[in-house]
Amino acid sequence: MDDVSRIRDRIDELDQEIVKLLKNRYENARLLGRIKQQRHLEYRDPEREKIILRKIERAATSLDLDPKLIQPIFEQIFTFSVQAQRDQPEKSAKRLDQTRILIVGGTGGMGRFFARFSSLHGAKVKLAGREISKTRTAAKEMEVEPGTILDAASSDMVILSVPMEETVRVATETASLMTTGSLLADLSSVKTGISDRVAEKIPKGLEYVSLHPLFGPGVDHLHDQIIVAVPYSPGQKWTRLSRALQSGGSKIQTMSAAQHDRAMAYVQGLHHFALISLGLGLNGMGGEPRTQSLRETEGRIVRMLDGWDVIVGIQQLNPFLPPVRQKFLELATNLAQIRSKQASGVKKRLVSNVQKWSRKL
Ligand SMILES: NC(=O)c1ccc[n+]([C@@H]2O[C@H](COP(=O)([O-])OP(=O)(O)OC[C@H]3O[C@@H](n4cnc5c(N)ncnc54)[C@H](OP(=O)(O)O)[C@@H]3O)[C@@H](O)[C@H]2O)c1
Repeated sequence: MDDVSRIRDRIDELDQEIVKLLKNRYENARLLGRIKQQRHLEYRDPEREKIILRKIERAATSLDLDPKLIQPIFEQIFTFSVQAQRDQPEKSAKRLDQTRILIVGGTGGMGRFFARFSSLHGAKVKLAGREISKTRTAAKEMEVEPGTILDAASSDMVILSVPMEETVRVATETASLMTTGSLLADLSSVKTGISDRVAEKIPKGLEYVSLHPLFGPGVDHLHDQIIVAVPYSPGQKWTRLSRALQSGGSKIQTMSAAQHDRAMAYVQGLHHFALISLGLGLNGMGGEPRTQSLRETEGRIVRMLDGWDVIVGIQQLNPFLPPVRQKFLELATNLAQIRSKQASGVKKRLVSNVQKWSRKL
């Protein structure tokens, strides 16, 4: 490939990244717009725009870019953001309009994410946590109502976002309060021994779908995000929730608990295990110099630390993970002993794996 084509390809990639960043900015501006609407604040804030422009000017100068070239682009972005703030879902797009949703574990990361999502789609959301004062603070921050587990009795849907090891107990207790035809959904990252036990223990007549969002609470929007659904007893309420999730751009993949855990043993379990081992193994490094690639790996390790309990839970509770980890350790041991002649065989296997996953190369 000549240099012109190579550089054009890179520019095309960068353009795609810019569009994705604009989408993230747009969705955050929409959330802000909703809060401003509730608080009767102006969408446009000239003071804030001045502050942003000063920051942009400093950043551009430090990167040897002429701030005068960047400024008009940001002025366009401000217009785009004001439009995003005004772009609240139409009533017809409020797929959860008037649906009463209780989020148990609503003070935590994923609980807050689903509270925000449900509320944006018109639901009447209540949060329940373990401590009433913490619950009230979280509810106030999210502009929803504080509640308790007793509100399960008057809810159309209950979303359980509690630690995996607590899911069966909290689900059983909550389900005993719910009325026939309402939906229970948990978010547990491991299903075997959890969702199958919940399904056995809860009263007949409830809808029950075990969900696993394949993203963390820090994502800006649902677009292109995958949510795995293990539908034990789905019904109309699940149809309503899944339509709302899909209208936000997410993709629902339906599978059994065992299929989910078998896949997650690689997708999360082994991936996290390798990153943890790498993070510990890098102990001998002084800190500098670092490559861009290592910085990106560090970023992944730091993000894992943010959700450490979930990472540990997956390592301990996914029953398909121990043999996958063991196989990985054997592979790594063999790899450390290979001679240069065997390296081409390793490359072939690696290429074949990459082709299988991404159909690239
Ligand atoms: N984080 C992720 O990236 C991610 C992604 C997909 C799925 N999930 C799943 O989502 C669920 C929640 O994860 P998270 O990251 O949001 O956790 P989190 O931020 O730690 O939140 C956990 C929530 O559960 C409550 N809680 C803690 N211990 C409890 C107990 N013994 N009984 C009842 N409630 C309890 C907490 O209440 P307090 O405020 O009282 O502590 C908090 O509201 C887990 O099942 C996890 O597997 C997480």
